[in-house]
This record gives sequence, structure tokens and C-alpha cells, in this order.
Amino acid sequence: MLEQKLKDPSLLRSAGFIDGQWIQAPNGNTFEVLNPSTGEVIAKVADLGAQETKQAIAAAEVAYDHWKTIPAKQRSSILRRWYELVLENQEDLALIMTSEQGKVMSESRGEVIYGASYIEWFAEEAKRIYGDVLPSTSADRRSIVIKQPVGVVGAITPWNFPNAMITRKVAPALAAGCSIVLKPAAETPLSALALAELASRAGIPAGVFNVVVGKDSKSIGAELTSNPIVKKITFTGSTAVGKLLMEQSAKTIKKTSMELGGNAPVLVFEDADLDKAVTGALGAKFRNAGQTCICANRILVQDTIYDEFIKRFTNRVGEFVLGDGMADQTTMGPLITKKAVENVIALVNDAVEQGAKVCIGGKTDAQGDHFYQPTVIRDLTTSMRLAKEEVFGPVAPVFKFSTEKEAVAMANDTEFGLAAYMYTKDHSRIWRVGEALEYGMVGINETAISSEMIPFGGVKESGQGREGSKYGLEDYLEIKYLCLGDI
Ligand code: SIN
Repeated sequence: MLEQKLKDPSLLRSAGFIDGQWIQAPNGNTFEVLNPSTGEVIAKVADLGAQETKQAIAAAEVAYDHWKTIPAKQRSSILRRWYELVLENQEDLALIMTSEQGKVMSESRGEVIYGASYIEWFAEEAKRIYGDVLPSTSADRRSIVIKQPVGVVGAITPWNFPNAMITRKVAPALAAGCSIVLKPAAETPLSALALAELASRAGIPAGVFNVVVGKDSKSIGAELTSNPIVKKITFTGSTAVGKLLMEQSAKTIKKTSMELGGNAPVLVFEDADLDKAVTGALGAKFRNAGQTCICANRILVQDTIYDEFIKRFTNRVGEFVLGDGMADQTTMGPLITKKAVENVIALVNDAVEQGAKVCIGGKTDAQGDHFYQPTVIRDLTTSMRLAKEEVFGPVAPVFKFSTEKEAVAMANDTEFGLAAYMYTKDHSRIWRVGEALEYGMVGINETAISSEMIPFGGVKESGQGREGSKYGLEDYLEIKYLCLGDI
């Protein structure tokens, strides 16, 4: 039982959090949260819907009036306290995360720290929301720019990072002076509720941070995007859902920030340090069992080193220990759902039927229907689904290229533009290729590119807006121009 493993069992919440109160569904309905490794039901959570979303938005509107007037220094100290509480409860938050999401404990512990880093960063940035005094058009007037919070924010977050994808939206919103209504993924609501409990303990006032949990994402999303009180929608998830949310938000001209799908290439040139490239590609591919938007989706290797790269890479992939994320020896956990596994099977079958070869893995695993073996596939062509679609699983397709021009063309041949990576020692190439890649983020001889201090986000159909860094706060602020005349 998860509750018995926690030092502080009161972090395990199963109700929604609206206006500082824990709320059950009026009809008493709940939905089950499953452990993807074992299939065990770990919680039954209140199944809230559009009505409770409306209630949360109304509470957020009232709370906003007060929160936006609190001096930045005070907002900053409250956020700082939340950050400290998250760190103090790292182990419990990691246990909750691995139980509902499946990732291995070391990754969950890391994600709690990563998530907390956004709270710390934006607690600091709250004190740096500067305006401007502009040069004037005439002697008797002055032009001033001030920055103000956008207002009530609606946030919809995914299951793959049940903690960090929340903090990197909630922390900047609160730092800017906004209030927020969060809808976390139905697969992983427990991490979100634990964060809300800690936020409340930190002194974030009732109604400033609300969490609506529920299975009916469509109705909750429709309320968030149609309600005129909500001034901004921030979403991390698939491009298809992002497009729908943007369409729905257009009716009330809401600001939107979208962190959507990816199809990240890793370009490995013949002059690369091969061992570093292998290690980098391995980390970028198999983090969270391949379930991140910036996971290496296509590994593109120059023909002269193709066989050697595959040999070294496959050997390393063979070292993964697949299993329950709670077990100490496990280095890769399950996929989130059976449907996710079915999608991976279909992509691999499509490639194999068209002539690709499996070097290792390529099968589901006897441990259960959420487990797929870490897999390497070679001899692919660009007509295969693996070249175009986001795998979101532990499958590494290794493509071959012969020239730099071809590599860049292959890398850019996608509607997505989130992250790309390259391995080379040639400094001229670093600039040429770095500038030619149509992506929001490019890792050069490095794939662990994320942190609270960098602008995370994509171009093309991977989204708009940036999260983290000094740029991440701008998405929660409006610019207002004040014109002072008659001086
Ligand atoms: C994601 O790609 O889903 C988020 C990963 C990150 O923040 O590093």
C-alpha cells in the first residue's frame, strides 16, 4: 500500500482542491489511478467535471484580486517556502510519482528536484518584473511601460512529468501575480494533489492555486477554454489536443502557451566522439522509457560510422534492466498504458514489414502488458512511420545519411520543431547546422539540455511560448503603456 510507504501519508490526497478546500464530486463519482507496473489500484480520486471547473475559475477570479496586489517580495517568499517544502518531501513525492507513473525511483527523485527548481527560479524572478521608461515624443509628456499579470490562467498538464510540468506553469503564473486552475492528467493526479497540499502549507492563499481532477478532460478543457474569466491557457501534450485548445480559446482571444509533440533527431557526424554520442543518444532516447517530448525520436548517423555506432549503442541498450520502477535494480520502467504499448508495436511492425532490422528488443515483455523491451532498429527508410511519428516508447530507430546537407534535410523533414541534437567536433559545422535546424532547442555534444534556467519550447507544430528562464515569465504578463501628459 502506497500510503504505508509514505513518511507523511497526508500528502496522498484523493479529492480536488478548489478555493482552499478538498472537494469530492457532488454525485460521489470517483476514478481509479493505477500503478502501471503492477496494475494495482492505488487511489480512487474524485471525478470532477465542468461544473467544478466553473467553480474553481470563480474562486480563482476572487483570489486573483488579492494575490495580484501582494508585493512581489512577499509572493516570492511564499513561493520560496513552497520550494523548500517540495524538497523536504522529496522521497514521498517520488514514491507517489513512481506509483502512478511507473518511472524508476531515481528518475522520480530527479524530477522532484527538477520540478522544485522551477519554483525556486520563479520565486527569484518574481522580484525582477521590470517596466520601462521610454524616450518621449514631446517635452510635456512621458511614456512608461508597466507589466501586469494576465489574470486567471487555465493549465492542462500531461502524465509523463507529473510534477515538473506543473511547477513550470504554476510557479511563473503565481510569480507574475496570476491565479491558476490546473487540470492534471487523469493517469497521474496524485502528484498534482500532493503539490497543492504543499502549496497550501506554504501559505499560498485559498483560490490562488486550484486543482480540478477528473476523467472527462474534454468537458473540463471546454470550460477552461470557453470561460471568459480565464485569460490564458497553458498546455503540455499532443499537437492534436493543442490545436483543439487553441481553436476553442480563439473565441475569447485568450493568450496561449503550447508545448506540443516532437520528433527529435540526433545527428551523429563521422568526426564525433563516438562514445559520447552513444551515451548522449542513449540518455535522450530512454529517459522515462522514451516517454518525453524531447526524447530522441530518430537517430541519424553518417554512413562511415553507422555500423560501429549501432554496435556500441546496441551493447549499451542491452544493459537496461526492465521492471517495476520501485525496485532498486530497475533502470527502465513500464509504459503508461496498454494503448501506449500497442502504438509502439504498430510502429515497429510497420518498419519491420518494410525491411528494417531489429538489433535488440522489438517485443513486449513477459513482466506485463505495460512493458516493452528497449529496442534498436536499423536500416530504416524515410517512408516508414518511425521516421514521421512520435514513438513515445523505448524504441531507437537508427537512420543513415551520407552528407551534412542530407542530414539537415532529413532532420527538418517533419512538421515538428521542439528539440534536436548533434554530435560533431567541427566548430564551423556546429554553427552551420545549429542555425539550419528548424527547432526551438538544439543540444550540441549534449542531450541533457533541460533546466529551469533555459527557455524550453518549440517552433512549427511543436508549439509556441517558452517555459523556464527569464522568457518563461513573459508569457504570464501583459505590457501596459502609460502616457503621462501635461507635465
Ligand atoms: C517533455 O519533453 O515532456 C519535458 C521534458 C523536460 O522538461 O526535460
